[in-house]
Amino acid sequence: MCGIVGFVGREEAAPILLDGLARLEYRGYDSAGIAVYSPEDGLRVEKAKGRLQVLFDKIHGGADVKGHLGLGHTRWATHGEPSDVNAHPQLSESGRFAVIHNGIIENYVEIKEFLQEHGVTFVSETDTEVVAHLLDYYYKDDMMDAVVKVLHRINGAYAFGIVCADCPDRLIAARKDSPLIIGYGDGFNFLASDVTAVIKYTREVSYLDDGDIAVLTADSVEIYDSLLQRVEKAHHQVDWEVSAAEKGGYEHFMAKEIMEQPEAFRKTISPRIQDGNVVLDDLKIDRAALEAMDKIYIIACGSSYHVGVVAKYTLEKMLRKPVEVALASEFRYCDPIVSNQTLCIVISQSGETIDTLAAMREAKRLGARLLSIVNVVGSTIARESDDVLYTWAGPEIAVATTKAYSTQLAVIYLIALYFAKQLNTISMEEYDAIVAELQVLPDKMQQVLEQKENIQYYASRYFNHESIFFIGRNIDYAVGMEGSLKLKEISYIHSEAYAAGELKHGTISLIEPGALVVALAGHAALFEKLMSNVVEVKSRGADVLGVTVASLGKAMEKTVDAAVMVPDTLPMLLPSLEVLPMQLFAYYIALMRGCDIDKPRNLAKSVTVE
Ligand code: F6R
Repeated sequence: MCGIVGFVGREEAAPILLDGLARLEYRGYDSAGIAVYSPEDGLRVEKAKGRLQVLFDKIHGGADVKGHLGLGHTRWATHGEPSDVNAHPQLSESGRFAVIHNGIIENYVEIKEFLQEHGVTFVSETDTEVVAHLLDYYYKDDMMDAVVKVLHRINGAYAFGIVCADCPDRLIAARKDSPLIIGYGDGFNFLASDVTAVIKYTREVSYLDDGDIAVLTADSVEIYDSLLQRVEKAHHQVDWEVSAAEKGGYEHFMAKEIMEQPEAFRKTISPRIQDGNVVLDDLKIDRAALEAMDKIYIIACGSSYHVGVVAKYTLEKMLRKPVEVALASEFRYCDPIVSNQTLCIVISQSGETIDTLAAMREAKRLGARLLSIVNVVGSTIARESDDVLYTWAGPEIAVATTKAYSTQLAVIYLIALYFAKQLNTISMEEYDAIVAELQVLPDKMQQVLEQKENIQYYASRYFNHESIFFIGRNIDYAVGMEGSLKLKEISYIHSEAYAAGELKHGTISLIEPGALVVALAGHAALFEKLMSNVVEVKSRGADVLGVTVASLGKAMEKTVDAAVMVPDTLPMLLPSLEVLPMQLFAYYIALMRGCDIDKPRNLAKSVTVE
């Protein structure tokens, strides 16, 4: 949640901060602000409720605010409604300190009362404001000393950027449980919540660890650990292209990212298939550990969880080992049965989702081995895992995930093949057939995307519905879950995904003339059964939009009102094709309803609060 950026250098800071915020806006977009220091104006804070554009216009793209050092913040409200006053940076009462913050200060009420007893007046409802005032309270001419005392006093999660008018050559960054990177330049340096904010200016970054404090000037970066010992951080080169974080002629990032999927899928699998074999050199887990594995636990949230649901069907079938898939936010509270022979597969695009992180730490504590599937290199989940398999999707900017979902599926297929071969649970014939099909899947994905006008037409027929059901069996059901989430998060239409056979146990009472049911029926072995469920809803008046493979299209068309056909493929790989019309359908419906597709209400891209 919340995007933070800090710049110190020799150029005007405000336009650079606004540019960084524009690239971070997907992390939160209910208000934005900057604080910039100049000898003439001191510490000047400008904030505005609403999208970044409001702030941009207010200060004429930054031209009104002079100074070479500053902080910027784009907010996803937790404490206090979106408003100018609750926007960050928050200032201390003396005006000496400005603070930007991502995270939650859990003991802010107690600290607020303490400060109020000492005569401090609060102006906002934020938890962050206590940090600004507490800095004032502890400040005795030593900025670092005040920061350290504050960090000892607060509980919770934070990534901070701090500036002090008395030390106008430096920024301080501090992190615990919220991501923070340093970007290194020649004569300038950055702090930011993720690399997209800085890649236009530098590709050299390092990742702060929990407890780290960094002091940035234009020409130096010093990093201290929680014991205030100087530490050297490895510098990494980010290979994401700047253009990958831009719209490139598309109306929305989501449209661009949907169309990028065949290429992202190819990039994720190609380097890992050599001479017809899946090669996962990054994996340290060996055959003995795989054989001893008692079960696989998959932990994730949202769409990544839906990949986990597909993975359960796939891995259980191929490995003949029990696979449990858990919502990360529930995992810690369900007394999970985990041993040191359990493999925990953690799926996350951002690599920073706090629920997922907390769940995997618990799994680790219980003895599990952690294998993560992550898109953002160097993210916390990646760094805390025993093994990491990166998805090579590039930066995903639209809040609703598409290409990350597809590349996560790609990695699941690779894991399934690799483990099955090690465990001898697959014949060479089947293995070769799946590997071969995997390599042509990007072309088939492309063929599905070429049907976008067709899907746009169906969207125009159905965009006024207020409730839409997705039904399917087995992996078709798993894809339905993702289709339903995509639709509801960007179009605000109520939607539910149901295992088709379960509908008649209650939910069918909601089916009435005019209801729309999206029926996923690509799995040939389950086609007849699914079509019986389609008949059940049709006879109660529902409109049915069917999705199936080309070879079953004719059979489906006899019953449904409209049908989308994807190329035939192996059942295991079907989700990669079926999900594409679901994403396009959601996209076009949201477009027709005039929704803010890339930044849906109440959401944020990287969910770093519990
Ligand atoms: C939905 C969506 C979210 C994320 C979820 C997990 O389109 O993007 O449901 O999948 O917040 O995020 P990551 O994968 O970053 O852990």
